[in-house]
Amino acid sequence: MGKVMVFDHPLIQHKVSLMRDKNTPVKEFRALAREVAMLMTYEVTRDLPTREVEIETPICPAEVRMLAGKKLAIIPILRAGLGFVDGMLEMIPSAKVGHVGLYRDPETHEPVEYYCKLPEDIDKRRVIIVDPMLATGGSAIATVDSVKKRGAKEISLMFLIAAPEGIEALTSAHPDVDIYIAAKDKCLNENAYIVPGLGDAGDRIFGTK
Ligand code: PRP
Ligand code: URA
Repeated sequence: MGKVMVFDHPLIQHKVSLMRDKNTPVKEFRALAREVAMLMTYEVTRDLPTREVEIETPICPAEVRMLAGKKLAIIPILRAGLGFVDGMLEMIPSAKVGHVGLYRDPETHEPVEYYCKLPEDIDKRRVIIVDPMLATGGSAIATVDSVKKRGAKEISLMFLIAAPEGIEALTSAHPDVDIYIAAKDKCLNENAYIVPGLGDAGDRIFGTK
């Protein structure tokens, strides 16, 4: 059974609260998305394996710990997930990046996939799927379906804000994945938007409305 982790770090909470504010302009929203992505990546990668390496400091030889070379793939769900990739790559610069393009049909709220390009060796990589919003869970479930179909096995998902309905749907459909979120909100409204949420994440990151 995968785990569901809510990050209660004060810096993450503070920055997500600023992002929720409807008066936060697009430039600041993007900068906050990058900063929160860095902070969340720090937590999501906490269990990466390390190995002992011999080096020489200016003082003496030393046995130190370095990453054991676990290969990672970051997979943003287009569009809004893109706003988190730069911050994540600052923390793990050698990660490969795949893309899954999905949008929610405005009437049915069902996800429609229009693009999928993943690293060739996705079956050998630990995958981190990233999207700011987990609402009904439809987009996340379809993305996990898509990456599993192409061979991915070790999968985590990182969201800024999740609705209880989305967490329930995702954990039921894919009980083996780990889920990391910065905030669990109250519910969905009649348009399947998260309440209180932050509005349409794609529009807020790209300034399209
Ligand atoms: C948003 C968001 C998620 C999805 C969440 O994307 O970025 O991908 O909705 O909703 P769900 O859990 O109900 O599937 P949207 O479909 O608005 O596409 P966009 O990023 O292209 O604007
Ligand atoms: N997609 C968004 O961008 N925001 C929501 O609240 C729900 C889905």
